[in-house]
Amino acid sequence: MFYSPGSETSGLPHNPFKSCCVPRPIGWISTVSAAGVHNLAPYSQFQNLTWDPPTVMVAANARADGSPKDTAANILATGEFVWNMATYDLREWVVGSSRDWASGVDEFSELSIPWVPSVHVAPRRVAGSPVQFECRLTQQLRIPGNTAEASAWLLVGQVVGIHIDDAALTPAGQIDITRLKPLARMGYRDYTCIERVFELSEFTGRQAAGIAHLQEVLHA
Ligand SMILES: Cc1cc2nc3c(=O)[nH]c(=O)nc-3n(C[C@H](O)[C@H](O)[C@H](O)COP(=O)(O)O)c2cc1C
Repeated sequence: MFYSPGSETSGLPHNPFKSCCVPRPIGWISTVSAAGVHNLAPYSQFQNLTWDPPTVMVAANARADGSPKDTAANILATGEFVWNMATYDLREWVVGSSRDWASGVDEFSELSIPWVPSVHVAPRRVAGSPVQFECRLTQQLRIPGNTAEASAWLLVGQVVGIHIDDAALTPAGQIDITRLKPLARMGYRDYTCIERVFELSEFTGRQAAGIAHLQEVLHA
């Protein structure tokens, strides 16, 4: 199938777009408003952009009335946010914090999520999350949408502090991914977590015959 978004729909029962870009790491973002209300919400339009200095982005869509969600409003007002790694064990709290709470509601209190203070920024860190980045806003881009809520704020932050729980490291000093099971978003209401890792460092050619037959394999 082929379709041109904007002039036609896919014809499928659900929009397949987000299910094509998978898995997306979840930016479980904590912020604090100018008035001092703490906020926590998940954003799967999240990614690292470069590593020196380490830099991440989060894209927050607008509310139906075109106003920014609390996370975007707080980042724009204070210039600060924290990324908390979402893991399989934390999945219920990740989804719980996505509820459309009123702006005055502190999700940490509402969901009894334990927290610890940050070093360089005011937003809190989720205590049970094994890795957190303290971030300062460096750039912003307004992305227009075909509807009010499809428009987005793309917010870029420089990572000024990195916390890694020592218990999250292997004896060799690497992040123990399959033990942490980072949570990732797919399309629809689907999620995944990383349970299998394999190393790949060079082209061996062993797959060459398979690649020649990729179309056949897909249609078998
Ligand atoms: C796993 C997950 C990922 C999400 N990703 C996004 C996203 O990338 N952008 C967005 O605008 N909303 C996203 N949402 C919805 C927001 O979390 C939701 O609108 C939330 O109420 C926003 O909270 P806030 O107003 O406190 O920022 C996501 C929800 C879930 C459960």
